[in-house]
Amino acid sequence: MLRKITLADGTQTFLNEELQVCYHSQAGVITEAMEKYVVPCKIPELAKCSELRLLDIGFGLGYHAAMAIHQALEHNPQCAITVVGLEKDRKILQHIAGMPFPIPFYTQFKRLVPPTFTFQEKKVHVQVLLGDARKRVKELSAEHFDAVFFDPFPPEKTPELWEVPFLQEVRRVMKKEAVLATYSCAPAVRERLAGAGFFWDETKGERGRRGTMAGKWG
Ligand SMILES: C[S@@+](CC[C@H](N)C(=O)[O-])C[C@H]1O[C@@H](n2cnc3c(N)ncnc32)[C@H](O)[C@@H]1O
Repeated sequence: MLRKITLADGTQTFLNEELQVCYHSQAGVITEAMEKYVVPCKIPELAKCSELRLLDIGFGLGYHAAMAIHQALEHNPQCAITVVGLEKDRKILQHIAGMPFPIPFYTQFKRLVPPTFTFQEKKVHVQVLLGDARKRVKELSAEHFDAVFFDPFPPEKTPELWEVPFLQEVRRVMKKEAVLATYSCAPAVRERLAGAGFFWDETKGERGRRGTMAGKWG
């Protein structure tokens, strides 16, 4: 069961009552998206190039992806943006249509419907690959993405997405200079990132909220 809740900044998300986990942090989606993902992955800077490819792991309601697109287009309206989302829960995608997220581009996300879960709006292409991310990531080309938003539920809820073999697959699809960003600052997560061949660094938001960014060695 999903229960709708309102966060500190007025944005709405869900509590997954079965897993006892919330889809977004109490600080609010805008703060979370910017501090944990858009800024660490340098989306505004990347958008200055003609093309930006983002992999969004744990697509959920697509809020972070929408924020990334919004920021990228603000900095370069001509940028060709591709977002690939990995999401295993069809039900959460179905809730997108009813969510009032305050980013104008988010209205386009209501087009993410079966069977393709894809839309193209001018130079922005968004596709969600439905299914277990561990399987679907194998379909993606090597060294393809400029940035990765890594936002599964916490390791105690979905341990499979925090294991080294999956992280190695994610690393495989990242370009040499690409950055992966995640909300987690847990030492065990950072150890696994290192074990999968990443170097990592801390990210810090307002009020000291910590996360992790990671890149490829060499
Ligand atoms: C914290 S929520 C993501 C919120 C999302 N980033 C957003 O902006 O709305 C984590 C998501 O990971 C998805 N998930 C959990 N296990 C998964 C798996 N094995 N493969 C793909 N997605 C998974 C959940 O269904 C959930 O939507």
